Amino acid sequence: MRILVIGSGAREHALLRGLSQDPATTDLHVAPGNAGLGALATIHPDIKADDADSVTALARELNVDLVVIGPEIPLVAGVADALREAGIAVFGPGKEAARIEGSKAFAKDVMASAGVLTAHAEAIQPGATDEAIEAALDRFGPTWVVKDDGLAAGKGVVVTPDRAAAREHVDAVLAAGNPVLFESFLDGPEVSLFCLVDGETVVPLLPAQDHKRVFNNDEGPNTGGMGAYTPLPWLPEDGVQRIVDEVCVPVAREMARRGCAYSGLLYAGIAWGEKGPAVVEFNCRFGDPETQAVLALLKTPLAGLLNSVATGTLAQQPELEWIDGYALTVVLASHNYPDTPRTGDVIRNADADNILHAGTALNDRGELVSAGGRVLNVIGVGETLEAARDQAYATIADIELDGSHYRTDIALPAVEGRISIPLPRG
Ligand code: GLY
Repeated sequence: MRILVIGSGAREHALLRGLSQDPATTDLHVAPGNAGLGALATIHPDIKADDADSVTALARELNVDLVVIGPEIPLVAGVADALREAGIAVFGPGKEAARIEGSKAFAKDVMASAGVLTAHAEAIQPGATDEAIEAALDRFGPTWVVKDDGLAAGKGVVVTPDRAAAREHVDAVLAAGNPVLFESFLDGPEVSLFCLVDGETVVPLLPAQDHKRVFNNDEGPNTGGMGAYTPLPWLPEDGVQRIVDEVCVPVAREMARRGCAYSGLLYAGIAWGEKGPAVVEFNCRFGDPETQAVLALLKTPLAGLLNSVATGTLAQQPELEWIDGYALTVVLASHNYPDTPRTGDVIRNADADNILHAGTALNDRGELVSAGGRVLNVIGVGETLEAARDQAYATIADIELDGSHYRTDIALPAVEGRISIPLPRG
């Protein structure tokens, strides 16, 4: 199978690694890619991921059998539709279905029709009066959940007990010309559950947990994700099945009923509170960085699996197989991430097999340098979460990148038994 992966981060590195291990894969390409992917795939750096014409032309020129789209921006822009119209199999939803991530109002409407538990939300439009904004702040919070109602790579969300900080974010989002979404705060531990969805067929992967705040103990601003681990030792035995039955299957059915059947990866971001699993958000693609941990444990050949979704045959796939044990990933971020990350710093000691590249490039001297906020992901796999942590942290400690930082507590609350599901209210 000749495969083209669209994207440039550590998620795409993990996808390429998984695809390369499937004996069915004969040829791998990536566009636009990053400096760490050359050993796995031919890199096409001049292609813009959201330029449907260029992506389709490249897929045709390479005569690929399958295109796998990693990030949300090309999916929301309709790149998968252009490929399908050209007769090319593609893993990823079309533009209409990708609104489950691209439009929070659409996602709320689907959930209301499907009877799925989620936060109450209200939108405030640019140009709203000061009184309207203050009244919304009165109705919500504390804690305030204030979202940029557009694609913001996880960084458009502020969750804060501080009214002034909530107001500051409201003003910044409105000033950028985007609507603001206020949401009621959902309590309880978070679960990222990725499901392969082919119409009404829903196949869950292992559940993971992301660490979104930049500093240890969940302090500091939200980021795209600073680390993740899988599976979740604190999740009830029927936890995944409940999320599938109560959230993912009803949503897949509702999307099919509306004429925008889902095909690709549906990411359910869940907060498990005393009323059970409630949806914080949906994404229309593999999560980053959770995918890097989840795919590290997948034994089922990845190319065949993604191709079965793309060709409408997921229901015929055998049950997924997994490595026993745990995996985690720790993100190495550049100086000043997530505010204004510094790029161009030389990276040393980043050759270990358990390192994935997120934001890297080569400079004029051919040295590996940072090229984004999240620079590298280090993976650890072990029979226990402690063993997985030991492996990842031993590797990351050796990497040299001036000004870089990483969290040292990825998966630690789970290891120390500090996470529990709230009991249902009687
Ligand atoms: N890890 C959060 C996301 O992928 O959106």
